[in-house]
Amino acid sequence: MNPRESDTLIIGGGIIGLSIAWRLARTGHRVIVLERGSAGGEASRMAAGMLAATAEVGYEEFDLYALCTDAVRRWPSFASELEEDSGISVDFRSQGTMVAARDPDAASALRRAFEFQQEHGFEVSWLTRAEALDREPFLSPRIAAAVYAADDHSVDNRAVTRALVAAIRALGGRVEEETEVTDVLMDTQGGDHRVHTAPGNADWSAGQIVLAAGAWSHDLAGLPEVARPPVRPVKGQILTLRMEAPFRLEHVVRGTRAYLVPRTNGRLVVGATSEEMGFNTELTAGGLWSVLDGAWELVPGILDLPVMETSVGLRPGSRDHQPIVGWSDVPGLFVATGHYRHGVVLSSSTADAAANVLLGGDMPAIMHPFSPTRFRVEA
Ligand code: GLY
Repeated sequence: MNPRESDTLIIGGGIIGLSIAWRLARTGHRVIVLERGSAGGEASRMAAGMLAATAEVGYEEFDLYALCTDAVRRWPSFASELEEDSGISVDFRSQGTMVAARDPDAASALRRAFEFQQEHGFEVSWLTRAEALDREPFLSPRIAAAVYAADDHSVDNRAVTRALVAAIRALGGRVEEETEVTDVLMDTQGGDHRVHTAPGNADWSAGQIVLAAGAWSHDLAGLPEVARPPVRPVKGQILTLRMEAPFRLEHVVRGTRAYLVPRTNGRLVVGATSEEMGFNTELTAGGLWSVLDGAWELVPGILDLPVMETSVGLRPGSRDHQPIVGWSDVPGLFVATGHYRHGVVLSSSTADAAANVLLGGDMPAIMHPFSPTRFRVEA
């Protein structure tokens, strides 16, 4: 068999492309992932790994709420199956999230969000300052109140992408890194579709192609014009601190301007800015300051912690900030991008839905609102 031939070729080795590939590889499907850099090296690496339905989604985003909730529910088995297939721990933490209000104004806004979440059946509880500090002693004694979201968990996103690569390979799939797509040739006569890559102008063929190139999905070289999803990069500056005793944070902590995500290994991810700067990936003093300023007013003890890393990621933001998942208008070309702030959490639902469709099944109803066809421009 031609080693560059497969049932499904996936363009983009971020958490979305890799998760789909893993779910397909589990069924014995022949799958190849083409990644222009290193797998999981872009937005999936510069994420915090929050698995949040309640804390990350805004009012009136009912479809996205439903999808994030579905994704969070899938995560415990998604994580344990992934650990089993790869032999790598992904640090799934189910301590829940504390959403903290820094002052009475923020507490009023938080109260409205809390009532909205309660009306929609979310597992949230209102905590006074004393109750919040009792659960998370390193919260600032100046916060006004907090909401505890019991179902908002976290995972180590870098461990997840490492585990996905290992699992795909262990199951006979392939992840080709440093392999940049230069052309996509879709066959309209029912034959195999082809992709060319650099270096070496290699020629790959497959029965179907998945576009999962994150913020680069719109501008991918050689993509048929009609299949270009409306995604753009949304810059996020983020930093990692090292928790040192006696400092310890157990829960994910969120405010309006920052979030803090502890790992079992002592790392503490603090993020993130949200900036419309195109493909600019410069770290800026202002960006890091705004993240730290938003974080220290909730957890002042972070000011004494050593900085391990500063980084920048580019989230794939669609025109309506909702994911784009489903068949494009080009037969054989499936799109899975635009996950914006929710790529890590939504990888579980997206992978299961996409794998089901790519294996010949139906798209689950929960995914219908996110079809690429919603952006169709009628002539
Ligand atoms: N979900 C966190 C972020 O995008 O910053």
